[in-house]
Amino acid sequence: MELKITETVLRDGNQSLIATRLPLSRFEGILDAMDKAGYYSLECWGGATFDSCIRFLGEDPWERLRVIRRLAPNAKLQMLLRGKSLLGYRHYPDDVIRRFVYKAVENGIDIIRIFDALNDLGNIAACVEETLRCGAHPSCAIAYTESPVHSIPGFVELAVRMEGIGAKSVCVKDMAGILSPIKSYELIKTLKERLSVPVVLHSHCSGGLAYMSYLKALEAGADVLDTAISSFSGGTSQPSTEVINSVAASYGYDCGLDTERLKTINAFFAPLMDEYHKDGTLSLKSLQTDPGVIYSQIPGGMYTNLIRQLADQGSSDKFDEIVRQIPAVRKDLGYPPLVTPLSQMVGTQAMMNVVTGSKYAHLCSEVISYLNGEYGSPPGEISAEVCAGAEACKQKSVQPPFSWEEVKERLADICGDDCDVLTCLMFPQAGENFVKGKNKAGDAGNKPVREGEKDEARLAQNVPQGKVSRGGIYSCPTDVEPDYDSFVDFETASESKAKDASYTVFAVLPGTVTKVFKTTGDDVTAGEPLLICESMKMENQILSPVAGRLAHVHIRIGDRVNMKERLVDIAV
Ligand code: CO
Repeated sequence: MELKITETVLRDGNQSLIATRLPLSRFEGILDAMDKAGYYSLECWGGATFDSCIRFLGEDPWERLRVIRRLAPNAKLQMLLRGKSLLGYRHYPDDVIRRFVYKAVENGIDIIRIFDALNDLGNIAACVEETLRCGAHPSCAIAYTESPVHSIPGFVELAVRMEGIGAKSVCVKDMAGILSPIKSYELIKTLKERLSVPVVLHSHCSGGLAYMSYLKALEAGADVLDTAISSFSGGTSQPSTEVINSVAASYGYDCGLDTERLKTINAFFAPLMDEYHKDGTLSLKSLQTDPGVIYSQIPGGMYTNLIRQLADQGSSDKFDEIVRQIPAVRKDLGYPPLVTPLSQMVGTQAMMNVVTGSKYAHLCSEVISYLNGEYGSPPGEISAEVCAGAEACKQKSVQPPFSWEEVKERLADICGDDCDVLTCLMFPQAGENFVKGKNKAGDAGNKPVREGEKDEARLAQNVPQGKVSRGGIYSCPTDVEPDYDSFVDFETASESKAKDASYTVFAVLPGTVTKVFKTTGDDVTAGEPLLICESMKMENQILSPVAGRLAHVHIRIGDRVNMKERLVDIAV
């Protein structure tokens, strides 16, 4: 009997435990051994990998892929794709999707695991079709979640439809590690009965269930399991490759893995993990079993990011409260599975609710797009409270439709090739900065930008974006009288209002200023966007609470702001 193993250390292990901070230079040396270890596939590329490369590591993600391909010429390279959102956070037109899939395959990807956060098949069909056309393997993933509106028969029907649109394998993607052993058995067994393509299980150890659910999946006939080499396993990551290999062998399964090479691979990664632990990149919390995850359904990566983000801002004391708030926000939004970008939306909204002490008085821009149906259909009903919040500041998408050719032409000056264009398109701000820097200075001159560092060169590159910017695509009609309390108030705002009839706008959440629309002296109308502050990968548009003149703009693009930090003073 055969069981296949996908190694996740280069993508999910790295992402879940150390927020994807592993540079290519630190793992190139082991790719040869990984190539020859007998894995079914090496998961090595995805949204967070891409994001981290251009934002923090100063690496071209396409070049990273090409190097992996060159140094691991025989292994099947696998990536994770978010359906129509590709590796970004908004939906792209079909010609852009086709271009991306073509370039990914051309640069070395063999297996594309495609999922949609809402399990909306309409959002993944074009990716599947194009992957097939490029001669690669489309694997469709069910975003596994539990709620009153989700069920095992429902997931099985979804999987049957996935096979129907061309999936060459179907993966149960349990991103939060909530799949219990008994449900794992039931789901995998039923999938095996109903599907003719291989069945894959992907889970996380966060809730302490994954080893048990993997064993039950093995008993139920799973074809492929996702595991991480021991030093990058456990906690918010996958079960250990070596342990699963050994247990499978004792059940009479052959994983085809070379145990000596696995030892070499683990010996290579173990000291790296020690380093990341010493410098604080790896938080002890990410390695602990948290039974709370069973209730909150927080996926590994989201958990790590939340811990890091709050620690960076000195607000770790808010962690427990935000974690408690997450299931409530999820219910109010119709039980979306907590996977990117929904996980960030729910997380950011929970953070906003906690920080402002007021539920849905301020909604992040992406939540509004979600409510507008721009991400697909929500699985369940949206609560009246959220709808009321959305009414208070109704924002409309003014994103004009665009084609691949138009975008390519617009970005021709800064982009060297189609890969650059795709980078800019998927990461409007960070991508353009990265590509400009790369093509100006060449790779050697492209220094990594460290988190929190106010890099002058980076600031200089920050020119106003065009149509493609996520945050810039909304406008707030001025005839609506929004509830401004959430972002005007806090203690001092009401004081300054009393003294000189001016308003101060404070940061609702800690984050990074990615766009400033106005300068000191400009007139603003009520509801006009002032700036965009990015928090947990979500762009939050800060609107002017009143009509007046900007007395002082306290922040610049690239600034990191803390909660309740003064952003803008408005004289009325
Ligand atoms: Co995962």
